[in-house]
Amino acid sequence: MNFFELAERRRSIGKVTDRPVPQVLIEHLLHAAIQAPNHHLTQPWRFFILQGEARKRLGTCMAEAARQRADTAEKEEAYFQREAEKPMRAPLLITVASVSDRDDPLRIHEDQLATAAAVENLLLAATEAGLAAQWRTGKPAYDDHVKAFFGLRPQDSIIAFLYIGYAAIDPPPRERIPWQAVSFLPDSTNGWQPLQPPHTPTS
Ligand SMILES: Cc1cc2nc3c(=O)[nH]c(=O)nc-3n(C[C@H](O)[C@H](O)[C@H](O)COP(=O)(O)O)c2cc1C
Repeated sequence: MNFFELAERRRSIGKVTDRPVPQVLIEHLLHAAIQAPNHHLTQPWRFFILQGEARKRLGTCMAEAARQRADTAEKEEAYFQREAEKPMRAPLLITVASVSDRDDPLRIHEDQLATAAAVENLLLAATEAGLAAQWRTGKPAYDDHVKAFFGLRPQDSIIAFLYIGYAAIDPPPRERIPWQAVSFLPDSTNGWQPLQPPHTPTS
């Protein structure tokens, strides 16, 4: 598979089987991830690998965090139970965080971007290895209690919960706005014109 086929083939796959992901593949994904560009070589990414019972402990933490966030007792117990079960959706969950040493918003932002680039590298490597993956965030990603589970500080960022396994479904690719419609060339009035008119499908 060449790079263009790989980029096209990658898609979010939210349903995977229980089949474990071999350790050698996990290492391969991490190796690919850390090749991402990063300004000042800060290498801000941190990867937390959860399998088996460790996912249950994260689930307990996510349910606790959901309880803390709930401002009234209106939420049903079943809601917290669903939160607790979320990390069990795949045999492998890699939490990817961005950690910056300086208190500079611009540097923190760029570190987050670099970590997102590492996530994409990891996802492409997973696709190439025949694995299925789903990038998720949601409220737990922004919750200090969940961050603390990973030894992260409130100012650190959880960029992704990556749910990884072997596909149980084969979803079609999500539609993209054609690149022609989101790419521009300068026009004669110092403005911008679409690189080419977008292709409009005829029915
Ligand atoms: C920052 C970020 C956060 C995301 N969070 C979620 C999420 O919480 N739940 C989810 O189902 N998908 C999430 N996704 C995946 C997107 O929904 C998915 O990439 C998008 O629908 C395009 O589909 P594709 O990945 O198959 O091309 C997230 C993606 C990104 C980049």
